[in-house]
Amino acid sequence: MVKIGILGVGTVGASVANILEQNADIIEARSGKKIVAVHGVVKNLSKDRGVNITLSDNPYDVVDNPEIDIVVELMGGVEEPYELVKRALANGKAVVTANKALLAYHRYELQELAGDLPLMYEASTAGGIPIIGALRNGLTANHIESIQGIMNGTCNYMLTKMIKEGVRYDDVLAEAQELGYAEADPTFDVGGFDAAHKLLILSSIAYGIDAKPEDILIEGIQNITQTDVDFAKEFGYEIKLLGIAKKVGSGVELRVHATMIPSESMIAKVDGVMNAVTVRGDRVGETMYYGPGAGGNATASAVIADIVDIVRGNSNPMLGYKKSLESGLKLLSRDEIRSHYYLRMSVDDKKGVLAEITQLLSRHDISIEAMMQKPDHDKDECVELLFIIHECSEKMIQDAIVALEALDVIHGKIGMIRIEQ
Ligand code: HSE
Repeated sequence: MVKIGILGVGTVGASVANILEQNADIIEARSGKKIVAVHGVVKNLSKDRGVNITLSDNPYDVVDNPEIDIVVELMGGVEEPYELVKRALANGKAVVTANKALLAYHRYELQELAGDLPLMYEASTAGGIPIIGALRNGLTANHIESIQGIMNGTCNYMLTKMIKEGVRYDDVLAEAQELGYAEADPTFDVGGFDAAHKLLILSSIAYGIDAKPEDILIEGIQNITQTDVDFAKEFGYEIKLLGIAKKVGSGVELRVHATMIPSESMIAKVDGVMNAVTVRGDRVGETMYYGPGAGGNATASAVIADIVDIVRGNSNPMLGYKKSLESGLKLLSRDEIRSHYYLRMSVDDKKGVLAEITQLLSRHDISIEAMMQKPDHDKDECVELLFIIHECSEKMIQDAIVALEALDVIHGKIGMIRIEQ
């Protein structure tokens, strides 16, 4: 019998315990052994968790317990679970974690510490979608050219509602929280950090890049307006929060931001709380993975898949390779990233203004692809100017935005959304 201890018996932890109990026959048939959750750790013992396992509030009851073979870490946070996972590994236990923030900061140290001990984390990225398995196993013959994904269900749910039903940002955020999609602090979702943690995990497997969240471009969906939504519709785009990893020469762009993508692309059709990730390999071409990115049962399904793999002896090294990838790839700086851009600005409705703006863009070597003018319903005697900008570097567009915002004829902040063609 294989005994499991669970750190954090919230929605996902309770689902893990219940699926192990209720689907015990199929899990035993597939793994060849009986797998039983024996102990769970929670912060608040007075709350009913709906599970048939012993509960306590001391994590060392699990990580130091000689009876337990596999520790499942579902606590959230970074430093406390890091200490506990290190301790569990030091005690010779296999570890399964769904904790993307922990991995975003400490995946390389944990790989080093784990050595030959299994340390698995399928549930950390895109919930129930086996994207880590695809990258670690199914696509190992390929150089990965790009990864592009909807990796945060909360943002996708919110954008879908804002675009398809015209629901206001604040109302739809409250709805996503009520439905249990959002993180305890929803800034992690709407600010792009949750998606960035997942992108960093995937890009380590694909490219061997040890970047931290601070090293990459992360923006959220907080500044999207109804004007942007209307413009996107008119020009045949959807707006999605995307995590993007892209090989460009010997560099890799890593970025998370709201993105306009053509409405006919497959990923543009992924709506609601669902996640989807496309991976382009140099040999296989484009592949796409779709499914529920959050929720108790979906995430627990990925946790148990890892447990079964460990029991079968299928756990390869954490990041999928035994030595450094030695690929010579380096992380490109934010300034070096190249994209097409959409710009929105509120300007005085008087002669010469458009000329002043286009001359400034021209002085910054920036070329306009399309332009539109709309009434500004919030400000009298102003109009909104909307531009699509030909591909340029992030440095060029950011410098131009600073210069534009300094003009007297432009009011407030300029809205910017990157466009992937
Ligand atoms: N808050 C996350 C999401 C949950 O909305 O996708 C899974 O990481």
